[in-house]
Amino acid sequence: MHMKKQILSLCVGAALLAPHFATAQKTLQVAVNAPKGDIQPTMWGVFFEDINMGADGGIYAELVKNRSFEFFKPMMGWTVLGNKATEGDLLVVNRYAEKPSNPRFLRATVRNAAKGEMGLVNEGFKGMGFKKDLRYDFSVLYRQAAPGVKLHVELVDSTSKVIGSTVVALPKSGEAWEKATASLTATATVPKGRMNLWLEGSGRVDLDMISLFPTDTWKGRPGGMRADMIQMLADMKPGFLRFPGGCIVEGYDLSQRYQWKNTIGPVEDRQLIINRWNFEFAHRPAPDYFQTFGLGFFEYFQLAEDMGAEPMPILNAGMACQFNSAELVPLDELDPFVQDALDLIEFANGDTTTRWGRERAKMGHPAPFHLKMLGIGNENWGPQYIERLKVFTKAIKEKYPDMVLITSSGTDPDFKPFSPEGFNYLDTTLRTMKADVIDEHFYRTPDWFFANANRYDNYPRNGPKIFAGEYAAQSDKPVSIRNKNNMQTALAEAAFMTGMERNADVVNMASYAPLFAHSEGWQWTPDMIWVDNLRAFGTPNYYVQKLYSLNRGNKILPVTLDKENVAGQDSLYASAVLDTKTNEVIVKLVNASGKAQDVALNLQGAKKLAAQGKLTVLQASDLNMVNTLNDPMALAPKESTIAVKGKNVKLAAQPYSFSIVRIKM
Ligand code: AHR
Repeated sequence: MHMKKQILSLCVGAALLAPHFATAQKTLQVAVNAPKGDIQPTMWGVFFEDINMGADGGIYAELVKNRSFEFFKPMMGWTVLGNKATEGDLLVVNRYAEKPSNPRFLRATVRNAAKGEMGLVNEGFKGMGFKKDLRYDFSVLYRQAAPGVKLHVELVDSTSKVIGSTVVALPKSGEAWEKATASLTATATVPKGRMNLWLEGSGRVDLDMISLFPTDTWKGRPGGMRADMIQMLADMKPGFLRFPGGCIVEGYDLSQRYQWKNTIGPVEDRQLIINRWNFEFAHRPAPDYFQTFGLGFFEYFQLAEDMGAEPMPILNAGMACQFNSAELVPLDELDPFVQDALDLIEFANGDTTTRWGRERAKMGHPAPFHLKMLGIGNENWGPQYIERLKVFTKAIKEKYPDMVLITSSGTDPDFKPFSPEGFNYLDTTLRTMKADVIDEHFYRTPDWFFANANRYDNYPRNGPKIFAGEYAAQSDKPVSIRNKNNMQTALAEAAFMTGMERNADVVNMASYAPLFAHSEGWQWTPDMIWVDNLRAFGTPNYYVQKLYSLNRGNKILPVTLDKENVAGQDSLYASAVLDTKTNEVIVKLVNASGKAQDVALNLQGAKKLAAQGKLTVLQASDLNMVNTLNDPMALAPKESTIAVKGKNVKLAAQPYSFSIVRIKM
């Protein structure tokens, strides 16, 4: 709907095969003196979901896998060391009645053991990454009738060589759980290490929450996040942070839905559940993928605040994933779900005299998080969604009339057999309901993205705003393991984003998805940022997102090629913005063809331009080019200057390039 078929985009494929030669100059008119709408500060943001080992084993810096023995297989991640332990000496015990949120612990019966005779090794998440000279903090909860056992913690490399060790005394006794801590420093950098835990002495001791964190976490927070990964997000200066997903919000069934109240408070009380991506794809099984919620809603809010991004939580709408069990909460049983939404707003914004505001303060943040928007449901569809959405909307708007609600338009406007009928039904109904924001998702081929660079040109200017909440060009096809984050997909997204930017009066927010993937632990590709245990790199798609975000401006400028929107003519795509705070004109141009193209920028009505502008270019000689862990910057933006003559700039748009020209007025 609202879509003019883009015939010219069909030329892209042919043009890509053309030899590299410059063609006759085209003129791009930018109406600097006629801004036509505002660009929201939220325009370009990030979408986080715990998929591809995004949280546990990813940004959550905990190195110990299955630290509290709650995985389906209680000893998953752990292997017994030494030959002293006999049957039952290392036993996982379940105290569900006493502590349902964290029922299991390890009971060790130690009989006159010397170091090296009885212990456990934890394999980490695809190994543990250790850095030379970095301090690591170990902690454990323990309980015992009488002291008698001490622990030896060792960091080891893949050959079992010890590269750091410490001794942990367990001095206290009694019924209560106590915490013991110790620190140790790695003497070598190791990408795939492990942690040994030896028990020495005699006695019976209960152990739980066996944990190891690096100390170089984001903002140095103990038990915090992996700084290198978060820095890549912060560098983008995202306008918003959407969390916690994605399908993870919905769950395979409702028991596996994301429940924010289970993710706050002391980490040992946060009830672990299976990660739905554990078993979603038979071709990428991840039997050790769980959500420990060490990273929960408090941490997401805090991260958004750290980055200056608006927090955008998405809540379950009383519906499990409709691709999976499609389980539904009956309408007359929806109250607890709606209450969760109301309580979340209080948790984020309520003062410290309120029940949930107090919880936030107890976690160390008495000031509100200034939540302004909230998503109800992810990729839900059909009348069942609308019925539930109406209940949420009424209750939330009654109490918080200014809260902006983000609503789902289903899975994908072009996804068969859901669409076009499914999408049109939701779109029409949501507009009739006067929804605030409609969330659209696109996992389509590069050709689709090029062809849809004009998607929003004819969208209604009044009514709901659009949040392009998930999109990524698929070099093969959706959910294919052959999808690559190559230059072709990055250019296709950059072209599509010119259309969003030209229509930023309608499209108020957009985010690429998914965000992170571990090179050994992924389920879904393509992804914006790839990591291993020690390294992280941005794909060309990351650089496209970052360049848009860092060059966002606050006013839309009309830009035309021969009086038409530039959406595919000669494989060119363009948008332009004004930044009234820095007084700069910013022009973005995608040349999706394999030939250089001379483009004359004419900045109509601009007064007194600087003689020189800044040119940033992301370019590849080959559309299949990718970045890798070993060559992370093969494709990265390059900066130079560009001459400005009066109101004119001559831009030689390189083959397969995304260029940004930034000129001071
Ligand atoms: O981004 C991966 C998944 O794609 C999200 O969880 C879901 O919303 C979409 O289908």
